[in-house]
Amino acid sequence: MLPLEDEFGDILRKAMIGTRLDAHELSKSTGIEAQRIATWAHCEGHADDGEARALALPLHLDPGRFADAAAARWYPLAVEAPEVRRHSQRPHPSNGYVFLLHGGKRAALVDPAGVPANLLRILREGKYDVQYILITHKHADHCDATADVAAAFPQAQIVMHKLDVHAIGSLAPKVLHVRDGDELPFGDGVRIRMLHTPGHTDGSSCYVLTSTLFTGDTLFAGSVGGAYGDASTYDDILHSIRSKLFTLPSETVVMPGHGPATTIAQERTHNPFFA
Ligand SMILES: [Fe+2]
Repeated sequence: MLPLEDEFGDILRKAMIGTRLDAHELSKSTGIEAQRIATWAHCEGHADDGEARALALPLHLDPGRFADAAAARWYPLAVEAPEVRRHSQRPHPSNGYVFLLHGGKRAALVDPAGVPANLLRILREGKYDVQYILITHKHADHCDATADVAAAFPQAQIVMHKLDVHAIGSLAPKVLHVRDGDELPFGDGVRIRMLHTPGHTDGSSCYVLTSTLFTGDTLFAGSVGGAYGDASTYDDILHSIRSKLFTLPSETVVMPGHGPATTIAQERTHNPFFA
């Protein structure tokens, strides 16, 4: 079982940065000692139920869900996605995925990263015909093996948002630029829909294939990605998720760039960043 990407302290820290409230300001509005809040934000110890609920209000988090995170009492229910294979991207802590049509006759690789030989072995052992290399964003733990995969599968089309494309260097001119809502043919009537979800990075993108959503570092089970955009912000990442991901069908399976799979329904009801 993969651990959740973010525990109570990570959620607290992201919300503090996002709302620009430091431990002293939170202490004033909640009566909780600033030193304790700062310690929790470094993932040491955790608040009790009442403290978590008090902190949630100024941070605009959902009190009950944030208390669940403090007590570590929520984990997503297992999901079924027979057409998706997950692999680790060692030495990175991120998830890579292969989405398969016809058991692999047509495959789309999501986020080529990690030791290239490991990734190429997975793709060759599966005898996958890689048609698309879908990249969620520019961080190395999601795209640093792009050149090796592109060389091994020269027919594969690389898809990445233009605002993040500089990360793959000399391959950038070969990228198929897609805009929010664009659809790509994948065979058998299946289309790949790209959703531009700025916030974690300016070019962060999610991809919908049938009823599976690959979210990169935009949405995790029980959390969201950090806001590291040059132009986009914490508010943008929350808005991207609310307007473009939470509007997808409830049963949509979410495959994040870190941590376990979840569903849109579970995130709508359990993610502490939303109420
Ligand atoms: Fe990232």
